Amino acid sequence: MPELNLTGAPAHIRHGSNIGQPLTRRDGVLKVTGQATYAADNHPPGMLFAVIAVSSIAHGRVVSLDVAAAKRHPGVVDVMTPDHKPQLAIDPEIKTNPFVFRMEALQSNEVRYANQPIAVVIADTLEAATEGAVLLAPRYETLPPLVGLDAGASFVPPVVGVGNPTENHLGDVEAGLASADKQIDATYETPPQYHNAMEPHAIVVQWDGDRLSVDMPTQGLVLSLARIAELFGIAHDKIHIRSPFLGGGFGSKGLMGGPPVLGIMAAKLVGRPIKLVLRREQMYGPVGHRAPTRQRLRIGADGEGRLTALDHHARTVSSTFDDFYEPAADASHTLYAAPAIRTSHDAVRVNTGTPLFMRAPGEATGSIALESAIDEMAWACGMDPLAFRLKNYAEVEPITGKPFSSKALRACYDQGAARFGWAKRSLQPRQMRDDAGLLVGWGMGTATFPALMFQAEARAAIRRDGSGVMEIGAHDMGQGAWTALAQIAADAVGLDIDRVTFKAGTSDLPDAGIAGGSAHTATAGAAIHSAGAAVIAKLADLATGDERSPLFGAGNAGVIARDGRLIRRDDESRGESYAEILARAGVAEVEARGTGAPNPAAMEEYAMHAHGAVFAEVKVDPELGQIRVSRMVGAFAAGRIVNPHLVKSQLFGGMIWGMSFALHEQAITDRRSGRIMNADLGEYHVPVNADVPPLDVITVEEHDPHVNALGIKGVGEIGITGSAGAVANAVWHATGVRVRRFPIRIEDLLTQS
Ligand code: MOS
Repeated sequence: MPELNLTGAPAHIRHGSNIGQPLTRRDGVLKVTGQATYAADNHPPGMLFAVIAVSSIAHGRVVSLDVAAAKRHPGVVDVMTPDHKPQLAIDPEIKTNPFVFRMEALQSNEVRYANQPIAVVIADTLEAATEGAVLLAPRYETLPPLVGLDAGASFVPPVVGVGNPTENHLGDVEAGLASADKQIDATYETPPQYHNAMEPHAIVVQWDGDRLSVDMPTQGLVLSLARIAELFGIAHDKIHIRSPFLGGGFGSKGLMGGPPVLGIMAAKLVGRPIKLVLRREQMYGPVGHRAPTRQRLRIGADGEGRLTALDHHARTVSSTFDDFYEPAADASHTLYAAPAIRTSHDAVRVNTGTPLFMRAPGEATGSIALESAIDEMAWACGMDPLAFRLKNYAEVEPITGKPFSSKALRACYDQGAARFGWAKRSLQPRQMRDDAGLLVGWGMGTATFPALMFQAEARAAIRRDGSGVMEIGAHDMGQGAWTALAQIAADAVGLDIDRVTFKAGTSDLPDAGIAGGSAHTATAGAAIHSAGAAVIAKLADLATGDERSPLFGAGNAGVIARDGRLIRRDDESRGESYAEILARAGVAEVEARGTGAPNPAAMEEYAMHAHGAVFAEVKVDPELGQIRVSRMVGAFAAGRIVNPHLVKSQLFGGMIWGMSFALHEQAITDRRSGRIMNADLGEYHVPVNADVPPLDVITVEEHDPHVNALGIKGVGEIGITGSAGAVANAVWHATGVRVRRFPIRIEDLLTQS
């Protein structure tokens, strides 16, 4: 569905600025009534079903598959294996840039992790394909798996994240620690976490000669298209990807991974359209995950509670065949002023699917360790955790010394603390109880996430009837891009949102870049803004150059676009409608393109981050150790808020993930087999509504003239950061027990208290 042109704007949205309005997501009704077409909802005629068979061992080799048995099953059409598959145009293991995810496209019989695809069964029905996959009954030659953070010799990766330096230094950390009055030396562990988006990875593929039509959720349409083009050796213009709706992405749909490639190969093999949808447990392997970390923090503070040094080392894991390293220690670059800071990383290789982006990669893991350690230091200094953070407030970015492009963190602390009632907190832990006798704890954490910009392009047009068009291959992962970007589009062309046809979600539209890094609204928004300005300038040229127009001679700078009219800036009573201008000029449509991109000069001069402060209350049963989060308040400053309704929703989601990080989520790997023992939604705990307390989000006003033309920072990921630490610190405050291995479990409180 390349075009979404709904009338969903509330009646009060009529004039003036669309940006800033709390519009309900315009695709919401489609979603709740089942009319939104997700990838797996497509059924091209003649379509077959493909089911992946995955490895039940983590390391070794497949020595046999009973292909004959699978093929004998009624309805099974073919079985794709390393020996029977279409050839790819290039080796899918070749990594030409950090945005290439090395994948399993059945290149060999080797098994490198549990749940690795080892064959694909293609059948008339999903049931037959599923049964066929069982009948393959693979036999293996098994090797001992490498499991966990101590699986082998560690090494220092060349870079972490996507190109971040592995180490950073400021000042003399050892001297800073030696001179400190108080020292903290604490090690924190975070578990592997897996993607459980509501919509599993799915693809529907149709080959038509050398043309390829793909329905697939993706956070990067053009990036995916380019990867498909190189893997299958076909021209970009022969490929069309539709991704109008995603049921969540969170990083797992950012890069083209193995399963959708197997779907395309299967369709080529049998010459029929194919649908391939991952089963829930198959998400625990080939589609990226959050790597485990072990983080050591050494912090020094002087007699007044000022930091003298901050040393943050993170160990993580990657797979045996690819390179993504969770940049956990980088969280310590930004938040607290210290004369000496060192961050460093090392890694070990294990038999796992390659870790990848997962909502706030690096910041989430690093933040829970840093915020815990800061809380420990505040206690060591006998200071309130908020007072301690204010004492060490960073007026410039600590690691670089650059000024912030904007930073309303102080206001976040103030407003969040006031709303929460923080001033009534006891300094000592285990002092507060509720009426039922439960231990009550209050904790806080600082939130941070970089304000990034990528590259994007948009096309704008004004049509003869005075309506507008905005085209951009943007991605709605559920965050509300269809709505927020359409609001930006409406303002960009000076029209009510209902008068703008907003097209997004397909690969033939201008490249919106990747919906990741919390940068999509800013980046795509900047492109939309600039395309709108360019098309209005063209329209203004038509009018101001025509002596029949009331705008004749006003010049571009002297004209503004509002409510479908151009008017003179110096005399707002003089103007004319877009339709009048185009009719007189005899032009059916004017169009223009615009781009969004990072601004290197501003990046050189300023540190750009969103910030926030999160406050959490937990209640702990003193006998049973049961932990409930009873309320959370988050105050966030993220530049201009395009749609407060959607932004709050994003921040709620992030805060829930943060709470989940502290208390729920954990993949448990069996050390002998290397298999994940809880690879399903029954045993891998994601919070359900009953786990989620009342949440309160405050969006703190912040004007940023440097990040981009619209002053937008991202909100997709920051909510996790700060929140995880706030909950962990609240558990300490309730119980007096400091748990440094996450998630915090009941038994941690029972055995230690
Ligand atoms: Mo996000 S982890 O950049 O999709």
